[in-house]
Parts: sequence; C-alpha cells; structure tokens
Amino acid sequence: PRIPILTIDGPSGSGKGTISRAVAERLGWHYLDSGAIYRAVGLAAAWEGVDLSDPEAVAQCAARTEIRFETQGSGEPHVIVNGKDATRQLRMETAGAAASAIAAHPPVRAALVELQHRFRRLPGLVADGRDMGTVIFPDAPYKVFLTASAEERAKRRHKQLKEKGVSVNLDSLLHEIAARDERDAGRAVAPLKPADDAVVVDSTGTPITEVIERVLSVLPEKS
Ligand code: C5P
Repeated sequence: PRIPILTIDGPSGSGKGTISRAVAERLGWHYLDSGAIYRAVGLAAAWEGVDLSDPEAVAQCAARTEIRFETQGSGEPHVIVNGKDATRQLRMETAGAAASAIAAHPPVRAALVELQHRFRRLPGLVADGRDMGTVIFPDAPYKVFLTASAEERAKRRHKQLKEKGVSVNLDSLLHEIAARDERDAGRAVAPLKPADDAVVVDSTGTPITEVIERVLSVLPEKS
C-alpha cells in the first residue's frame, strides 16, 4: 500500500517542529525530525574531534553514529546519540550551527538518506526539515513550506530557549539564525526552498492552532 507522507519544510524558527508534531499527533502518523538527525551528527563529530569541514570524515562519522528517538510521556521525544541523551544539548544554537555546517556536505546528506526513508511507515509520516519535499520524499502527496518573518522566527526561538532555561541575547540570535538560513538556502545540494508542488503557509502573526488547521487543510478530509 502507498504510505502517505506530509512534508513540512521551512527555515529555522518557522514553527515547523511544534506544528509538525501537533499535526502528526492529530493524524496518528509517525514523525521525522530530520533537523535533529543533522544536529546529532554535528554533535557526534564534535565529540569525536572530527573536522567539521571535511566532508568524507563527517560522512563516515554520520554512518557510524547511532541516533534514536525515544518518546517519554507526552513531551518532545528525547534524542539519544551513541547511547547518550543529547536532547538538551541539541537544542542550543551551537548545535544548529554545527548541523548547518555539516549539512552542506553532499556525502553527509547521502549517508543520511536511508535512515530518513526508514521513517516512512504505516499509517503515514509527517516529515519535518529543509529538503523533505524536494529531495528525500519528492513523491510525497502532501507538501507544505512553512515560513514566518525573520523577526518573528528569532523571537519564537528566543522564547523557546528561554522556556527551556537557556538564556540568549535576542539580537545575536537574530543574527545567527539569519546566517544559518542564508547558508541553508545558498548551498549547492538540497538548498532550503519550497518544492514546486508545496503549499506555502506564512505563519507570521498567526496563532499556532490556526496554523495547524491550515496545514491540515492540505490533506483531503481526515486521511
Ligand atoms: O530544523 P533544525 O533547525 O533542527 O535544523 C538544523 C540544521 O540542519 C538546519 O539549519 C540545516 O542546515 C540542517 N538540516 C538540513 N536538512 C534537513 C533538516 C535540517 O540540512 N532536512
């Protein structure tokens, strides 16, 4: 049987994580947080002292890194990297920056394709990332590109981090996020961009509940 997929791509802080998880829960589908995979590989490479600018070395590290998602209660799933719970560390902007650096290497992306494909299981999958609709699941029947203004994205990220007890400066966060987006959109492989057949949803100034409804409306009546 054809396993349905909804891809949700977009820049950092667009609300992708929150929205994707909520939509997956509503549909009763699996959830792929592909950003966490890139973050985990960046972290594992740093732990092992691998040169982040060496594509082959990082690709080899990606191939041997064991990444597990563990659902604990109703909260965000924990991410276990080589047996260590790295959930908290992975949320830091330093992990985001490391992810963005290693994500630009074609052999690293190639090493992670199969792992991502394995998430396609019945009854369906919500896949969250940058290239879900363009590269990893180009044949997905439902595709969304989620955006928001740069200010709003930085503010959301700031609030999220604050709630998690991480204190960061809003201005420097805005700057870091803009730099990361620029690198993600400008890279040669799998750049951040909407798939030709994606529905673009701008969430600026829109309450989460309404964004969730708009994303769900891309699917035919309750799949
Ligand atoms: O979504 P998140 O902020 O966790 O992603 C971290 C970084 O991982 C992104 O800035 C991007 O460089 C990379 N990434 C990617 N492709 C994906 C998901 C994330 O290149 N599908």
